[in-house]
Amino acid sequence: MRILSHITDIAPYVPGKPLEELARQYGISDAVKLASNENPLGPSPKALEAVQEKLDGLNRYPDGSGYDLTAALAERFGVTYGQVVIGNGSDDLLAMLARVMLDKDSQVVVPHPSFLMYSIVARSAGALPVTVPLKDYALDLSAMARAVNEKSRLVFICNPNNPTGSILSHADVVSFMHDLPQDVVVVFDEAYVEFVRDKSCVDSLGLLKNGQAVVILRTFSKAYGLAGLRVGYGLMPEPLAEMLNRVRMPFNVNSLAQAGALAALKDDVFLSESQSLVHREMDRICEVLDRKGIEYHTSQANFLLIKTGFLADAVFEALLQKGVIVRSMRSYDLKHHIRISIGLPAENDRFLAAFDMVMDELAGAHGSV
Ligand SMILES: Cc1ncc(COP(=O)(O)O)c(C=O)c1O
Repeated sequence: MRILSHITDIAPYVPGKPLEELARQYGISDAVKLASNENPLGPSPKALEAVQEKLDGLNRYPDGSGYDLTAALAERFGVTYGQVVIGNGSDDLLAMLARVMLDKDSQVVVPHPSFLMYSIVARSAGALPVTVPLKDYALDLSAMARAVNEKSRLVFICNPNNPTGSILSHADVVSFMHDLPQDVVVVFDEAYVEFVRDKSCVDSLGLLKNGQAVVILRTFSKAYGLAGLRVGYGLMPEPLAEMLNRVRMPFNVNSLAQAGALAALKDDVFLSESQSLVHREMDRICEVLDRKGIEYHTSQANFLLIKTGFLADAVFEALLQKGVIVRSMRSYDLKHHIRISIGLPAENDRFLAAFDMVMDELAGAHGSV
């Protein structure tokens, strides 16, 4: 077998540990998963109903164009039908972008630590990801601007940034974009944008409507509670959307996913319940951590980056033994941090209690770092 060397160089993406795996490995059946920034409320009830109604038609191929969902997204965001591309999760859109815009002679500018898939999709196309360290846990736009050169094709802006939860202001992004070469496309990955409370946050949709070379990626996996269905979408200039649609697999969003996402998009009640839960519980968890003097980074998303003072993998493992799945941030080069997703009140209580015990145990065993 002759595998391309730029593929063998890719470090595999490690997803959050599934609940089923914990049950298999440790026999723990009542674990809570706070590892993948999912919606703890479950799917929108309206989405479930819509999916159920579609079950009888599973012998038929889906609508390959995803017409109803695409049209509804265009209407919701005030863009044209031709500016919307739907995907099997927003991951699929990242892969399509790479296929359309990158080759072995191109580079992409990627913040670090940030969502690990940017580098993976760039490498899959043979392109070089140029990583730019965060500054004070936020994207460093000046350094990112300096990393742009004549080979740069894409700049990834994860907003809010996973795993820090930081956001960029509109003013900062506008001045960053002002100096960018014309043919560099800025990709705003807004997987968590529905949770943002800070009003200064960049209005990427406004930039798109102003004719700027931007791509906005969003997903039904987080605030809309449909991670298992796999639906994401991109909003972008029409000529680019047309190219993405050329490489898009014809049935990349299956019929259940199209129906579920369409119903979820219209379920404003569920969306606002999800937002309120995350905001309420985020504030509560932060208050507890403040009282205990534990460092964390203020987050505009549905997850929280916590500096534990101990090796991330040790904290992760110890929490796992207590039936709480979080994410060790070692693979993000944050050796002493874990990331937790905001769960239901009882799940968060379970984390807080387990975290207390683990911190005591580790302090007793090793002393803090
Ligand atoms: C920043 C970011 N972008 C994209 C994704 C992918 O989401 P999807 O489920 O839509 O593929 C995630 C998932 O965790 C994410 O954190």
